[in-house]
Amino acid sequence: MKYPEVDVQDYHDFLDEILIDEGQLKQRTIELGEEISRDYQARSLHMVCILRGGVLFLADLMRCITVPNTIDFMAVSSYGAGARRTTGQVRITLDLKEEIQDRDVLLVEDIVDSGYTIASVLEFLETRHPRSLRVCTLLDKAERREVDVPIDYCGFTIPDKFVFGYGLDIDEYYRNLPFIGAVDPLRYRPEE
Ligand code: IMP
Ligand code: MG
Repeated sequence: MKYPEVDVQDYHDFLDEILIDEGQLKQRTIELGEEISRDYQARSLHMVCILRGGVLFLADLMRCITVPNTIDFMAVSSYGAGARRTTGQVRITLDLKEEIQDRDVLLVEDIVDSGYTIASVLEFLETRHPRSLRVCTLLDKAERREVDVPIDYCGFTIPDKFVFGYGLDIDEYYRNLPFIGAVDPLRYRPEE
């Protein structure tokens, strides 16, 4: 317990293993940027990031994209606050600033787990008639999928483990870590 005064556990206490290190994240992001830049050649790309987990990935990915691009943000929450697992129903809590009609939209997400979040967001965005709509996720927990979602670009497929770092949180903390770590659930002790 490194930060007793703020009740935040030192991640070393519950880190099971580093699944993806900083170098691997960088390398894969460069590859995805190249692939996306090729696919969107001669077009301009509108990247929509889902807050807050996707922010670090978006910031790095956009620097690897060579076609003209713009960004916007939206936020969603699953019904059942504080739940680790998505329940199926997703609510838009922050809408986009910009219109997406007739634009080439790329949804940028940190992780696809059950798939409910992306499925709901895609359905919501489709009603606004983008010219095209694709999905780029850093992580895919494929084994846990409950609803089919199209993933056009995927950084890494990972096993069914709870992960944190590089945008992904545990109870809102640890997003700043430069790697993707897996939690040892026996050693993570949430407060209360
Ligand atoms: P889905 O709706 O079940 O696909 O869940 C997607 C959302 O759940 C992600 O955008 C994350 O916010 C969260 N999530 C799922 N798995 C993890 C994880 O292992 N670590 C942190 N957040 C996760
Ligand atoms: Mg997220």
